[in-house]
This record gives sequence, structure tokens and C-alpha cells, in this order.
Amino acid sequence: MHTIELSPRLLAVAGCVPPGVRFADVGTDHAYLPAYLLQRGVIDRAIASDLRRGPLDRARQTADRCGLTERISFRLCSGLDGISPEEVEVIAIAGMGGETITAILAAAPWTRLGDYRLLLQPMSALPELRAWLQKHGYKVERELLRQEGRTIYTVLDVVPGEEAPLTPAECWAGRQEHGRDDPLRPALLEGLRRRVERALEGISHSSRPEDVPWREELSAVREGLITMQKELEVCQM
Ligand SMILES: C[S@@+](CC[C@H](N)C(=O)[O-])C[C@H]1O[C@@H](n2cnc3c(N)ncnc32)[C@H](O)[C@@H]1O
Repeated sequence: MHTIELSPRLLAVAGCVPPGVRFADVGTDHAYLPAYLLQRGVIDRAIASDLRRGPLDRARQTADRCGLTERISFRLCSGLDGISPEEVEVIAIAGMGGETITAILAAAPWTRLGDYRLLLQPMSALPELRAWLQKHGYKVERELLRQEGRTIYTVLDVVPGEEAPLTPAECWAGRQEHGRDDPLRPALLEGLRRRVERALEGISHSSRPEDVPWREELSAVREGLITMQKELEVCQM
């Protein structure tokens, strides 16, 4: 029987799934995540959904090769549209843009009303996603970082709840955990600071009035990131 192995990014998501929960993988594509969890005995059944037929067919093929067809319910739907609140406790939404993840959660407000855990692994728009979560009744319990090649991926482990407003830099980098930070955090902060500085350079000579608030926000992000870097250095001494 074929055994599924996961890359560090998806392995981090898998590691956040508590044993025995009702689990759904939204945007499953090959269904590697549910197949891995089922093969390792973490969960008994899973829902695997995708917006498109091609990826869902690939998910079915994986299940077939692994002998898991009877234990995965396949749903062709957008986001959580084809999944009802009673069917799940833990929902993974990984490998998609932050805007898509936001749209999926906005269309399923029940995810912030019950005892749900959301495992979000955005490929872009992290600042906007963190700000949106904070404003809409979700709390980031922890963040995991994993590196593949030169890219550092972030996994957000999210539950319904209140969270203090995030500073501009916290929207970009997540909250600093004072001594409990991920070993990859220094590299993450450095990469973000460079990205912000490049963006600031890009609009430094702009005279367009609409660039003024963006420049101010980026300056605040840069200051915040530098402060975080200094705090992290102190913690590591
Ligand atoms: C890059 S793949 C990620 C696969 C897997 N989750 C991972 O992290 O490796 C993104 C998948 O999300 C699906 N997708 C995109 N938008 C979606 C939506 N609104 N609802 C459900 N699936 C969606 C795509 O069809 C695609 O199969």
C-alpha cells in the first residue's frame, strides 16, 4: 500500500490536528493531508473538498492508491459551502492565498461561533489575513514556521475568540512570544524587514497623495519589525 509522506509545510499543519477529531481539508488538491492523518491513525474519517474537479479527482486517486476511499468524503464545492457545521471540529485551509482564505471564512461565519479549530497556511497576504481574523472574532493561538528551500511558511492555529488589536508590525510578523519564539523567527523578521524597505524605497519619490498613508504604514511596520528584532536578540543572549 502506498504511504504518504508530507513536506515540512503540510507536516506542520498535520501536527496541529488533535487525535480523533472530525476533520476537513478545504482546497485539498491531492488529499495528501487527510491521507497522511488517516494512515497514521490520527483521525478515523475525513472530508476532502476542492473548488475544482481536477484536484478532487487527484484526491480520489490518492485515496484509491492508499486504500482510503471509504474513509474520505469528497466534496466539490467552494470553501465550506458543501460542509455543514456539525460535520467538523478542525478545518485545514492550506496552500491558498490569504485573500481566498479570508473569503472562505467570511462566507462561513459559523466557524467563529462554535468549538472549532482552523489551521490556516496562507501563501500570501498574511498581514491582511491576520488583521481580518482579529477584527472578525478569531484568535491566533500559535504560529508555526517551516522552511522549504528559501521560503518560510507560516501556519496559523486559530480558534474563535477575542484578541487585542495587532500593531502594524504584528500584522506582518505575528505576535512575538518573548522567549518562546520559533527558531526561524529571526530569519522571518529579517526577510520581512528587507521586503518592507524595498517597498518603501519603491514609493519614496512618489508624489501621489494615495501613497502617503501606505508610506506611513510601511514606516510603522519597519519600526515595529526593528524593535522585534532587537527584543529577540536580547532574549537569545
Ligand atoms: C495549491 S493547492 C493546495 C493544496 C493543499 N491544500 C496544499 O496545501 O498543498 C490549492 C487548492 O485550493 C483549491 N481552491 C482554491 N480556491 C478554493 C476555494 N474557494 N474553495 C475550495 N478550494 C479552493 C484549488 O483548486 C487547489 O486545488
